[in-house]
Amino acid sequence: MSCMLAPSLLSADFLHLASEIEMINQSEADWLHLDVMDGVFVPNISLGFPVMQHLAEFSVKPLDAHLMIVEPHKFITRFRDLGVSTLSVHYEACPHLHGTIMKIKEAGMQAGIVLNPHTPVELLTDIIEEVDFVLIMSVNPGFGGQQFIPHSIEKVRRLKELIVSRGLKTKIEVDGGIDIESGKWMVEAGADILVAGNSIFKAENPIEMIKQMKQEI
Ligand code: DX5
Ligand code: ZN
Repeated sequence: MSCMLAPSLLSADFLHLASEIEMINQSEADWLHLDVMDGVFVPNISLGFPVMQHLAEFSVKPLDAHLMIVEPHKFITRFRDLGVSTLSVHYEACPHLHGTIMKIKEAGMQAGIVLNPHTPVELLTDIIEEVDFVLIMSVNPGFGGQQFIPHSIEKVRRLKELIVSRGLKTKIEVDGGIDIESGKWMVEAGADILVAGNSIFKAENPIEMIKQMKQEI
């Protein structure tokens, strides 16, 4: 099997962000995953624009921004201006999801919808044709280093069935508690892109861990 890997910067050493990004730049990682939290949609606050501006300038990997914020439509052009390539918004945070997805695509980015662990994939039946990717949360959003929720494997399987039955090319990204073991389960179920925070940044040798995940999953 082969998959794409997007290390989540949330688990990095924030006192040494430049060297952490340099490590990702030198690695076999495909994207750099940025977790944006507002303290309202999730009970945590992470990265703001002044910090992300510097990260964006320094990263050679495409930026994958995961917005865990209310009213994400207000910030779409700001993320475009940062140079973000893939932008995902939570189903649970968007009353006008179709409009928000259209705005992301009009801004020239790939658009994704994120589903919390309790949100069924079947709710995507009337929007799936519009999105480039779906991000299945395999933990409750807000924090790195949480335990993988096994039910998310079944959700990826059902989402894959939906995508195949419609003849679509929609990609499946998964996020939360991903390591080599859970990564394999998710890729077998149909995942294309794995986000991994703690399993990479807390590894003894992160660059080797990225290599190993790319090889073994
Ligand atoms: C959680 C974030 C994840 C998180 C993943 O809200 O969306 O991207 O940083 O970290 P791990 O891999 O440690 O669960
Ligand atoms: Zn994330």
